[in-house]
Amino acid sequence: MPSNSSDGGGIVASRAGRVYGVHAYHTKVPPAAIVACLEAFTEPGDLVLDPFCGSGMTGVAAGLTGRRAVLVDLSPAAAHIASNYTSPCDPAAFGAAVERVLGAVGEKIASMYETAVPEGRGVVEHLVWSDVRRCPSCGTEQSLWEHREAGLRRIRCLGCRAEASKAEMEVVGEAPVEANVSVGGRKRLVRDPIPADLGEDRLPRDLPWVPEVRFDASRPMWRRGHEDLGIASVEDFYSRRNLAAMALLWEAASGERDPRLRSALRFSLTAIANRASRRYQWNAKRPTNVLGGTLYVSSLRYEWNVLSLWRRKVRAVERLFRESPMPPGAVEVHKASATDIPLPDGSVDYCFTDPPFGGHIVYSDSSLLWEAWLDDLTDVEKEAIVVGGGGSPKSIDDYRELLADSFAEVVRVLKPDGLTTVVFQASDAKVWTAVQGATRDAGLSLLDATTLDKGQPSFKQVKGMRGERVATADVVLTLRKGGEVAREPVATPLEAARWAIRHTRAAGHEATTGRIFASVNARLLRQNEGEALGLAEVARLLEENFTRRGQAWDLAA
Ligand SMILES: C[S@@+](CC[C@H](N)C(=O)[O-])C[C@H]1O[C@@H](n2cnc3c(N)ncnc32)[C@H](O)[C@@H]1O
Repeated sequence: MPSNSSDGGGIVASRAGRVYGVHAYHTKVPPAAIVACLEAFTEPGDLVLDPFCGSGMTGVAAGLTGRRAVLVDLSPAAAHIASNYTSPCDPAAFGAAVERVLGAVGEKIASMYETAVPEGRGVVEHLVWSDVRRCPSCGTEQSLWEHREAGLRRIRCLGCRAEASKAEMEVVGEAPVEANVSVGGRKRLVRDPIPADLGEDRLPRDLPWVPEVRFDASRPMWRRGHEDLGIASVEDFYSRRNLAAMALLWEAASGERDPRLRSALRFSLTAIANRASRRYQWNAKRPTNVLGGTLYVSSLRYEWNVLSLWRRKVRAVERLFRESPMPPGAVEVHKASATDIPLPDGSVDYCFTDPPFGGHIVYSDSSLLWEAWLDDLTDVEKEAIVVGGGGSPKSIDDYRELLADSFAEVVRVLKPDGLTTVVFQASDAKVWTAVQGATRDAGLSLLDATTLDKGQPSFKQVKGMRGERVATADVVLTLRKGGEVAREPVATPLEAARWAIRHTRAAGHEATTGRIFASVNARLLRQNEGEALGLAEVARLLEENFTRRGQAWDLAA
């Protein structure tokens, strides 16, 4: 293994890094962690496969280490992001293409954000918008902005002082509540909005093409709250002004003649598609990222200047192309299902992949804004997830079957001695069992298991799990075609937990529940008949048998 899996520390890789951050994607694996695996299991020139490639970090790692890679993902957004991360692009030519777009639509867009200030002219950098809701007791309509300091969980009506939950207060509209205006490029003015801030008289009457993809209860991530805010289509995720700005930029980018530059320009636009939307949540301290893995729209949200967002993003994309050049032709990206990998039998040296974790994320919905702009949506029938609601529900058995078919394809395209590394994390033991079953059905046997610590837990990891009961580390399984499974002395769950605490601490990490959870499962899975445990079971095991100091577990009972 690339790390000494017996040290309990596993692979540690930071989520930070420029290459890694230019375009968001759900559950990215840091290229550094993949590089460690490629160096351990392959030689320069070898062919690496990732059949669930997401943003293409396996391809980035392959390009950085002189390997070749074939990347496959069902999602058009993933294929678009992965191919832009992994195909070379001349930074100077990209810069010139950006200038062409600005030449075509820059002024028109800039005029939509112009406003009046005492000094003369200013630029709206962002507005904050708030839901306006009606009190269920007295009918008073009020902006939720007025309640921001007290918090929006329980709201005391400004009229009758009765308390109500946000859900009990009907949405009757929205209003701009704060303007952030730049004056002369330097000075910032934060004030109550004035009509000129909305730029309504400067919006184009006829818009170029905009994404009109319907958004309704057939989508698992649809919520009644979307309907309350008038969101019935992807275009409704945007203010009228930001929709116009995105549409003008998208049209100009799509007019670029060179296909590589056209794709790179679109990459820089999908990279801002969420922040440009009503999904950019207001934050009291400072603006942070849009929440990934959701389509949540907050009651208090930004309308951010799209031109400023894009100018900043293109600088970051140009830097990516300059500082992390990919070798030409080293990486191929296919929009396809892992159940049907477009490669001949026995052609791949090594497979590294991070498949969907059961019901963790509905990728097709989470990528909806990107895919709508790309005018190409995921074929949800083939999506390997567990999903209850929406128009295409899938059970754990459907998920297991799709994974088994995918791993059968991996086995088909691997060379006889080829290995597969699967990064995995799920707090539900049933999902673990499904993955184990799927790899076993496909004829893969476990060679080794360790953990991958990606640093900060993602929002999805935190959501729904209280306190420190969060799985901060993934388990990394390395499998081979056929063969006998490597056996280790059988450890009971309690022995595995004791081992995990001891070795996590010895490796210099805090023995938190999340780390112990991944480590216990890595240990249990290394055994032939080891059954993985769910996060709740591991938490119970720790609570019943060990003492806790702060967030960390101690061996003393
Ligand atoms: C955990 S993510 C991979 C993230 C990736 N490791 C990265 O660094 O960005 C899993 C991916 O599997 C994809 N997926 C789901 N079902 C699929 C299928 N049947 N075939 C191929 N890809 C699929 C999703 O679109 C998603 O991008």
